[in-house]
Amino acid sequence: MKKIKINGGKPLKGEIIVSGAKNSAVALIPAAILADSPVILEGVPDIQDVHSLMDILEVMGVRTEFKNHRLEIDPTDMVSIPMPTGKINSLRASYYFMGALLGKYGSGVVGLPGGCYLGPRPIDLHIKGFEALGATVTTEHGATYLRSSEKGLKGTRIFMDMVSVGATINVMLAAVKAQGRTTIENAAKEPEIIDVATLLNNMGAKIRGAGTDEIRIEGVQTLHGCRHAIIPDRIEAGTYLALAAAVGGGIKVRNVIYEHLESFISKLDEMGVEMKIKEDSIEVTHADNLKPVSIKTYPYPGFATDLQQPITPLLLQVKGESIIEDTVYQKRVNHIPELNRMGANAKIEGNMIILNQTETLKGAEVEASDLRAGACLVIAGLLAEGETTISNVEYILRGYDHIVEKLQKIGADIEMVQVENEMRIEEAK
Ligand code: EPZ
Repeated sequence: MKKIKINGGKPLKGEIIVSGAKNSAVALIPAAILADSPVILEGVPDIQDVHSLMDILEVMGVRTEFKNHRLEIDPTDMVSIPMPTGKINSLRASYYFMGALLGKYGSGVVGLPGGCYLGPRPIDLHIKGFEALGATVTTEHGATYLRSSEKGLKGTRIFMDMVSVGATINVMLAAVKAQGRTTIENAAKEPEIIDVATLLNNMGAKIRGAGTDEIRIEGVQTLHGCRHAIIPDRIEAGTYLALAAAVGGGIKVRNVIYEHLESFISKLDEMGVEMKIKEDSIEVTHADNLKPVSIKTYPYPGFATDLQQPITPLLLQVKGESIIEDTVYQKRVNHIPELNRMGANAKIEGNMIILNQTETLKGAEVEASDLRAGACLVIAGLLAEGETTISNVEYILRGYDHIVEKLQKIGADIEMVQVENEMRIEEAK
């Protein structure tokens, strides 16, 4: 089993380069199978989720080649294989194969999604969208069976009861080759949705309005291969900016699109963090005597739920009481008990997280419960006195490309260690 081991308190300084967006990549890769010739994705993050999706594609006879962040996907000889179990439930984003297979073949068998536990994560809106397009969807023995009518999928107007990133993208994937026009109303507006629509339009689709709350899709007959550069990962960027502010400045984060982080940056600004914002980089120059803040997460362009955990260690440095309310995932609090083990002055009251200044965090053995909780614990470990070991690192490696190497480059005393079993760690002391 792997663990991340950190000796905290080291001065951190220098540049961190952000990789391509995980939440784009995990949608773009299934979307690529809609083409009848090779798709080349540039700037793909080298993370476990990408490798898991490549394994799934290989099962369906889709050739893939991944080198230097360039992923070639050749669906020319693809066959639709039922995927009720196995790799398909190693990540939540495997549900994008539902929309992609429905869009390409008019049918598909896909295991129910896995992924981080953030409370109930139903896919009812995805299924409602597929059924509105004329598909029948049944779920049994942990797999979803999707089938369109003989005449194929028919464009329609779909109103999303809730703003959902996954459902918006999945319905887009199913609708691009449906007959006629599909309108998705109350659509999610995340940059990753624009990224997927850009890829599909480069493949010959006709999608307008991505990034607004109304997306219009004119169905087309065929989609061809193309080349597409993935947008930078705004959540990875925000995670490193939170670290930069927590250590008082001196870190530049590169490959950032400022517009994708406006709500996050305005919160740092409100706290008194000083930043130099350039074309594609943000440098935190100073961050002392910061003010406490209240944060409420919302769908984009609001404060991203994925950044409420990574900003927590910074808020623990600040004199006064900060409050976080996650309106998207009320149960996204599993990092708090782990931070308490490090001496953090943090508590959960209803669906609020209350944070007060913690003079010093102490290194401890902690567990990552999900991807962004893991990132939060890495930042806390870098700030803490003494040694922190983080287990369940596979969560972190799912979404942060070479996080250990990137942090070593700015002076962190951090390493990935192979642990045979708990006893071994004790013996080593
Ligand atoms: C995407 O998840 C991201 N994952 C999540 O990032 C992110 O936290 C989330 O969007 C919100 O921004 C990927 O893109 C792979 P939703 P998704 O559908 O699409 C409810 C990370 O850390 N809902 O926008 O699954 C749902 O329970 C991950 O990178 C339904 O009720 O999120 C949630 O409360 C974690 N029914 C809310 O909507 C549905 O059919 C928003 O979920 C779908 C969603």
